[in-house]
Amino acid sequence: MSLYQVLQPLLFRLDGETSHDAALRALDLAHKLHLTRPATPLTGRPVRVMGIDFPNPVGLAAGLDKNGAHIDALASFGFGFLEIGTVTPRPQPGNPRPRLFRLPAARAVINRMGFNNAGVDALVANVGRSRHRGVLGINIGKNFDTPIEQAADDYVACLRKVYPLASYVAANVSSPNTKNLRELQQGDALDRLLGALMNEREALAAIHGRRVPIAVKLAPDLEEAAIAAAAEAFVRHRVDGIIATNTTIARDGVAGLRHAEETGGLSGAPVKEKANQVLARLHAHLGGRIPLIGVGGILSAADAREKLAAGASLVQVYSGLVYRGPALVEELVAALR
Ligand SMILES: Cc1cc2nc3c(=O)[nH]c(=O)nc-3n(C[C@H](O)[C@H](O)[C@H](O)COP(=O)(O)O)c2cc1C
Repeated sequence: MSLYQVLQPLLFRLDGETSHDAALRALDLAHKLHLTRPATPLTGRPVRVMGIDFPNPVGLAAGLDKNGAHIDALASFGFGFLEIGTVTPRPQPGNPRPRLFRLPAARAVINRMGFNNAGVDALVANVGRSRHRGVLGINIGKNFDTPIEQAADDYVACLRKVYPLASYVAANVSSPNTKNLRELQQGDALDRLLGALMNEREALAAIHGRRVPIAVKLAPDLEEAAIAAAAEAFVRHRVDGIIATNTTIARDGVAGLRHAEETGGLSGAPVKEKANQVLARLHAHLGGRIPLIGVGGILSAADAREKLAAGASLVQVYSGLVYRGPALVEELVAALR
């Protein structure tokens, strides 16, 4: 029996966020006491994606370590890469609690955290203190009170600060918990944002002598036409990667369950089909021109294989860790070898 199997029933007695905080504190402590495995990636199938060498294709999805405060402890799970954030230029408290709910019967989670984070300067300091030398993605967003018309300024401000520390940067335009954020996935707003980010990246590449790849993270709730238009914009702006997907505002697969009607984004098993469909559509439009990172509803090796079959080069997990613990990472790395 693994440590996680012992702890899970205790954690599941707590409310969602208390459990999340307790699990991270326990993990940090276990890491300090050298009770975790070494903070090195598990040996798996190495892949080169976005010009980066990944020791294995299994990553931690954004949102679990928003401030990069647990990097070394999380690295002990053996991930091929970690994505920290979403971080915003200024610190912000996020939405009032409760804002994180488990739906165990559906192996799902609903959250409306609202980008609670300590701000980009705190994240940069945390990364500076970590010993991790593996692949590190940094996921950036906008403050809740920055008008949507000025959103690009927030993304550019974050990009500048995280640039020297990031293996890649992910622009999150798909959280359902920041008002109007998902408008940035379409039309002129998307064009403006991508233009600003790519411009700034050219300037930063010249300063730092290193071209950091930029990926964009999409929602699972996009219509076919919006996916096609976004894919074209990504090609036009030479986006380096696409992360599909974030949480869904739909409630398919959870009707009648406790918490099912809570406002927020649904993740875990019920988002898998939608996420896979977006992935497959992107793959159909792009035909390999931009690499895809598949995330949403991976709770088993079979789920991860479906992501690769739909066109993903890498996968990420979040909710699966809540239900399966760190053993999931080992299982996925072994299965994708
Ligand atoms: C509690 C929670 C917080 C999240 N926060 C973020 C976030 O800050 N930024 C982001 O891009 N995605 C965030 N996500 C979305 C996940 O990264 C992932 O895209 C989504 O949960 C689907 O994957 P899963 O089914 O493996 O959880 C969050 C998810 C959860 C459950």
